[in-house]
Parts: sequence; structure tokens; C-alpha cells
Amino acid sequence: MKFVSIACCVGLLCTSVLSAITPMMNDFAPKTIHISSTGGGISHIAWTLEIGKVLAQRGHNVSFVTTDPNVKFGAAFLPDIKTISMGPHISKVEFRDLFDVNDPVSLSVTTAYRTLIADVYKRDFNAYTHIFETSNTALAICDQMALPCFDAAKKLNIPMILHITMSLSEDTRAPFITSFHTVGPPTTRDLSFKQRFYNRYIRLPIFLYRFYPVGQVVKKVRKEMGVEDFDPLGRHSNVIKMINSFWGMESPRPVGPFVEYVGPIISSTYDSLPATMEHYMNTHARVVYIAFGQMYTPNVQEFKVLLTSLLEAYESKALDGFIWSFSHKSRQEPDLPIYIQTRSKKIYNVKDLFDGSLDPNLRFEAWSPQFAILNHPHCKLFISHGGASSIHESLFNGVPLLLHPFTSDQPANAYTMKEAGVALTLDRKAYDFDDTVEKIITILTDKDGTFKSNMASMQALVQLKSRGKIHAADMIEEVLYSVRNKSDIWYRREESDGMPLLKVTNWDINLAALACIAAFFTIVFKALFKTISLLKFLFVSHQKLKTA
Ligand SMILES: *[C@@H]1O[C@H](CO)[C@@H](O)[C@H](O)[C@H]1NC(C)=O
Ligand SMILES: *[C@@H]1O[C@H](CO)[C@@H](O)[C@H](O)[C@H]1NC(C)=O
Repeated sequence: MKFVSIACCVGLLCTSVLSAITPMMNDFAPKTIHISSTGGGISHIAWTLEIGKVLAQRGHNVSFVTTDPNVKFGAAFLPDIKTISMGPHISKVEFRDLFDVNDPVSLSVTTAYRTLIADVYKRDFNAYTHIFETSNTALAICDQMALPCFDAAKKLNIPMILHITMSLSEDTRAPFITSFHTVGPPTTRDLSFKQRFYNRYIRLPIFLYRFYPVGQVVKKVRKEMGVEDFDPLGRHSNVIKMINSFWGMESPRPVGPFVEYVGPIISSTYDSLPATMEHYMNTHARVVYIAFGQMYTPNVQEFKVLLTSLLEAYESKALDGFIWSFSHKSRQEPDLPIYIQTRSKKIYNVKDLFDGSLDPNLRFEAWSPQFAILNHPHCKLFISHGGASSIHESLFNGVPLLLHPFTSDQPANAYTMKEAGVALTLDRKAYDFDDTVEKIITILTDKDGTFKSNMASMQALVQLKSRGKIHAADMIEEVLYSVRNKSDIWYRREESDGMPLLKVTNWDINLAALACIAAFFTIVFKALFKTISLLKFLFVSHQKLKTA
């Protein structure tokens, strides 16, 4: 007690002698920021608008620039963020045409890219230019796919941030990180020499060859609009890459100073469970939730394997019900099986399963509130395609996953989640009943508790990281006020920018050092050789003298 009062006295004494000052920042005037996304739907848009909302609440003038089909996604952010539409979607190519689940660089994919650019570039470029010019724009935050957004910003000398959910850019790559031309694990750690060689020296050239015509179309439209050619994903592009991911889902590695992992950003609100579904969740103890995102549907054979496996796991009582998000359109598929027979010889009529008349525990829903289902303590497993948002939502709620990846970033996501011990993965082309049933049961029973303990740390990581929108908003403000010469994000520019490669890698001095070492040894060996020859000569002369 005595000690405390002495400390107080000293404290008071000090403050009365030297009064404290609080560091104060300058007043930063609000700025106009445009966030844009025109393809990819809610998973490209929701997280960036969450960041936009933080910026709007700090007083900035934030708007969401998009096309008519995406206007609905902006509604939840009114009045903080205004939505500006550039008009209808004017191409017959849809976002989903840019992905081929069997070959990511198929001719249909590259043709779709070319058609899309040819159809929409000019209209969008002019729209962005008009919006940027007439609103005193300080920053453009563009979706990785929104080429005209970058180009308009580039032409008008406006600083840019690229938003993306996967690590596609050059400055996220280390030599052991596999690129998007290979659909598979994100690192080469477990790949054989042969696989690595194939990926780099066969697969990559094929990819570059197939995408060459796309690059030509980009060059052409840029030339028409007077935009200089540049790659926003490039290492020295002066564009910050803001990625909705985190160490834990990304293979840890050094990345460039223009890279910011700000995720996983979780929405501030989600739809809640309708009353009937809430009752269902409350009255079942081990529910499996199945959903493959808005873009992907398992083919008939995959559907059969998944459904049969789930029914067998249900018969074994590993689960006591499931909710399968399955659209009405997918149910019309003519080749869907009429009956499913499990190994117990039990027969299930698929139509009766769809309409819920066969067994009320087994539910097929045309729409389901995904986050709310995962958020319920009785949801014990999520069977998913492995899209980034689905994984984030599952991890946030601590639900282990069985991943059935199709394409894009999904196989890499599946691999990392399995490595992290919170998921198992399926090979969709293997059509393996035994494997699928076994994996469902393994996760649900979790015999030695490994999924549970791994998930506890993963869930903590994801929940803590989900505050990343605050960090992202800080990073954006930092760009707003510290750029030089209008758009130069000078303080992040890599030291190596503009340095010759030999100097960057120190290979010039290394080569010089090697040359010195080589010269040194040449001299030493030459001298040694001379000495030996001399000694030999003396020895031989000596012998000759002796014998003479
Ligand atoms: C805010 O942005 C809109 C466009 O999104 C623009 O029309 C308006 O002039 C901006 N307001 C200010 C104060 O800069
Ligand atoms: C400012 O930016 C313009 C356009 O990018 C460039 O031509 C110019 O050299 C820059 N000036 C300085 C001082 O860096």
C-alpha cells in the first residue's frame, strides 16, 4: 500500500511539472474511391464492399461500379456505398464460361476470354473513364478480371488496387509455388521431379501458347483506346494486390511489398435460419451440409457416388440428417438416377428424396442460408467444392470439410485445408464409393479428436484474421494520402525495380568472385606443375650422374 501511494505521488509530481501531450494526426480530407467488379458474383463483391463500408464510415465517398446483373449485391451496403451501373451485361459469354472443369486452358476457355473482351471492353472503358473523370477520383479498386477498370485508371493516372481471392500475381510467387497453369497443389513440395519438370517445361509453354491469342486481343483493344500495355498482376506494376486470403490457407513464403493478404473477410450479417430449418437443426445432432457454390454442379456419376455414400453413412448412423443445396434446375437433369441402392440393399427413390417425402431427415433445398447452417452447433461436416468463401465460412464456424474440388483455386484450397488437418479431399474423377463413405465417417467420428483440435486453432486464426477489413481500410488510406505524382505508390516500389537482373541477384559479383577463384587456382596449379617438373628433372639428372 505504502509503495503504491509513493508511486502515485511521484506520478502526480511528474505530471504537475511536465504536462503530457497526446500525439495528434492531421485532418485528412475525405476522398472519392471506386470499387469495381463486373463478374464472379457475390464472392468477388461482398468482401470488397465490406472494406468499402469501413472507408465510407470513416467519411470517404465510396461507390460500387458494376453492371446491371450485379446491382443487387450492392443493396446490402446502402446508404454507405452508392452503386453505379455501367449498363446491362452485353456479351453472350458468362463468367462461368471462363472455367472448364476438365481443362483450365481449353480452347473454349480462351475463346470465351477473347469474345468477352471484344464485346465489353470499349463500353466499360468509356464508362469507367467517364465515372473517374467526373467524380474527382482518388483511387480505383478493381477486380482482377476488370481489365477496363485498370486501363481507365492507368490512362487517367489514378492509383490502383487490385482485389482478388487467390494468389495469381507475379509478386506472390516463389520458385516452389505452382502457378495457375497447373490445377493442383499450390506448392511443389510433394511433387516429384518429373511432375515439376512437366509443370514448368511442358504445361507452362502450352498455357502460354493457348493464352497468346487472348493477349493479342487485349493489345488490340488497348491500342484502339490509346492505353499503354501493362500487366496489373506484374511485380513492378505499381498496383497493390489486395488478396482475401491469409497465412494458414496460403503456403507461407516471402511475397513482394505490393502484396497484402487481408482475409478472410466475413460479412457483417448473414441470412438467418427460417423457422422450419431451425427446428430441424435443433432436433438433429449430426447434420451434414452439402453445397457446391453457385457455379458448379456435380455430374450425374459424381452425384450418384456422393448420394450413395451419404445414404450409407446415414444407415451407419454416423450422421442423422443432411441438408443438400441443390437447385430445381439441377433436379431436371434427365440422366439423374431414379433409384439409389446402398450396400444394405435398401432402395431410395431419388424424386421422393428431392421432395422430402421419403425421409424428413434428408433434405434437398433449392436455396439455403449457408452461413447460418454452418453456424449451428449441430452442423458437423460441410461437403463443398472448396471455393474460398465457402471455406472461410466453414472455418469461421469450426466445421470440418470434405472437399470435392472442380477447378480454379479449388484444388489448391483443398490441398492446403487437408495439410492443415481440417479437411479431407475427394478426387471427383475417381468415382470411388468406398473412399467417399470412409472419409465422411472418418470426419464425423473423429476417433482420436485430431480434426477437433486442429480446427480449434484454425477457427481462432480465422476469427482473429476476419478483422482484416480494418487493416485493409488502413492500407487503402495510406495509399490515398501518400502517393506521389498522382499515382506513384513509391514507398512500396521494390528496390529491384529497374535494376539489372545480374545486379539484383548479385550474380555479377558472384561471377567476378568465381573468376578470381579460378584465376587463383590456375596460378597455383601452374606453379605447382612447374615445381614438380623441376624436381623431376633434378631427380632424373641426379640418377643419371649416379649411374654414370
Ligand atoms: C462522390 O462520388 C460520386 C460518384 O460516385 C460523385 O458524383 C460525387 O461528385 C462525389 N462527391 C464528392 C464530394 O466528391
Ligand atoms: C509523373 O508521372 C508521369 C506519368 O506517369 C511521368 O511521365 C513523370 O515522369 C512522373 N514524374 C516524376 C517526377 O516522377
